[in-house]
Amino acid sequence: MTTPVKKVPIHLQSSQNRLLIKNGTIVNEDETTDEDIYIEDGIIKQMGTNLIIPGGTRVIDARGRYILPGGIDPHTHFDFEFMGTKTADSFYSGTKAAVAGGTTMIIDFVFPKKGESLLDAFYEYRQKADGKVCCDYSLHVVLPHWSTQIKRDMEILTKEHGINSFKMFMAYDFMLNDAELYSAFEQCQNLGAVAQVHAENGSIIAKNAERLVAQGIVGPEGHELSRPEEVEAEAVNRACVIAKQLNKDKKKVNAPLYLAQITTDKSAEILKNHISEGNLRAFGEVEVSAIGVDAPIKSNPNFVTSPPIRSNSDVSYKLMNYLASDVLQLTGSDNCTFNKSQKEMGRGDFRKIPNGVNGVEDRMSVIWEKGVNTGILTPCRFVAVTSSNAAKIFNLYPRKGCIAVGSDADIVIWNGNATRTISAQTHRQAVDFNIFEGMTCHGVAEYVIVNGRVCLDDGQLRVVEGYGRFVETPVFPPYVYNPQELDSIKPIREHINDVDLAPKLNKIKLIDDPCPTPTFPDSYVSTPTMRGMRPEGQRNIQESTFSLTEELDPERKSSIRVRNPPGGKSSKFW
Ligand code: URP
Ligand code: ZN
Repeated sequence: MTTPVKKVPIHLQSSQNRLLIKNGTIVNEDETTDEDIYIEDGIIKQMGTNLIIPGGTRVIDARGRYILPGGIDPHTHFDFEFMGTKTADSFYSGTKAAVAGGTTMIIDFVFPKKGESLLDAFYEYRQKADGKVCCDYSLHVVLPHWSTQIKRDMEILTKEHGINSFKMFMAYDFMLNDAELYSAFEQCQNLGAVAQVHAENGSIIAKNAERLVAQGIVGPEGHELSRPEEVEAEAVNRACVIAKQLNKDKKKVNAPLYLAQITTDKSAEILKNHISEGNLRAFGEVEVSAIGVDAPIKSNPNFVTSPPIRSNSDVSYKLMNYLASDVLQLTGSDNCTFNKSQKEMGRGDFRKIPNGVNGVEDRMSVIWEKGVNTGILTPCRFVAVTSSNAAKIFNLYPRKGCIAVGSDADIVIWNGNATRTISAQTHRQAVDFNIFEGMTCHGVAEYVIVNGRVCLDDGQLRVVEGYGRFVETPVFPPYVYNPQELDSIKPIREHINDVDLAPKLNKIKLIDDPCPTPTFPDSYVSTPTMRGMRPEGQRNIQESTFSLTEELDPERKSSIRVRNPPGGKSSKFW
């Protein structure tokens, strides 16, 4: 499929499309290195020390900071009509908030309305999102029922529209039965797509809910009561069993399975057992709501999401440990926000509370706080569960999900020591409350670079509506379908133009712990700002009276003093 060429609005054109990030600690999922990164036209062009770069390049000093691949949120719902209402967050406000929190790519869901074809729904979503998104995005497609038409449309979507994953629900009134799930998994297997499931036993939930309502339990507490942990775990088990049946045909590639929204250790244990028995390639995603909410929430409709946030407070700690040990691989937000007034739709009947909560903006900070700050995740594993594994599973790696020469310059400069307190008063999402209200997190994005453009600049948000692109996801992701041959997706870590070459590269690579937590000298930690580091061979602008940030930002033209930097003008925007 040819993606429509976007016209660059005139106000976005800039003379600056080059960026050097110096002195930081690069964290990839497999190693940490102390190297500089040179970016041009949205792509990482060089990595190493003493890089030779063109004059006029903007320099950001990342001393004492981690440099992370931008977060990839594999599970969002923006501009989504659901349960009789529409999400508070649009593709604009949602991706703006994502960027503010250090996420540089989202994957949303095409959700066909009743009677709508998959293809029409896909076109509708492209129209809703293109022109709105502030960062790159891809799409999964939900199968609202099973039919030969759906089967055909899946083929068209994979072959012509860059879709490589489909989601089947085992709950809600659009759930598929077991035979339909089997057929849908099989078609995913034939096409080289990823079969995703929302695993909860919908029939049992409906019966439980009926019983609770008959007993007079109609408030929000009924939501979790009707969807107990075992109802999720049963569906996880059933989905694994179904996928395994397909894998009995040895002439075919293994049918992979992606379990979205794991909220209980019971599900994780089942997944672990199935995987260790063999004959199944399966992945588990945990939502940041399941990790970050530990206040009592049972009677608050604002926390209603499915599967529910568990009131058993041990669960989040256990899930984090499953993420650390690779039983579970990714974190998402399942961001699906409804304002307080919309949540009121379910007053008197919990079944009518629109399901969904926020998370896209805070996912990175909350996972850092509960994972790295507690010592459960190394920074490398944090990168794996917030970015690289999503890129690998949906076949975006190594273009996304890593910092390597040739990769998209989706980068976060992260202060692991700084703190911020989450609040709806200050968040960038459109929704009028925040489920993490009052939570203080270590781990703050200071700069967020999206395709080479500095969109969060020393804490100042400067996103551009429509700047993001739709990114096609090719079928047969090697990580999913061919894990024996992962060399084919190894990123380039050559250090081109590095005058001192390899011996000088300060690579941390230990056998026992490949991803140690780097320690910074105390003096680094207190660095108040990182702007305006001196480009090699040029005058020290930090010592002068103006800042590079101001000089080169197209949206702050009033303070531009040098319009044509020494490296010359470019028509590209950054
Ligand atoms: O409650 C949720 N998660 N709402 C969004 C729809 C879904 O289940 O993914
Ligand atoms: Zn969802």
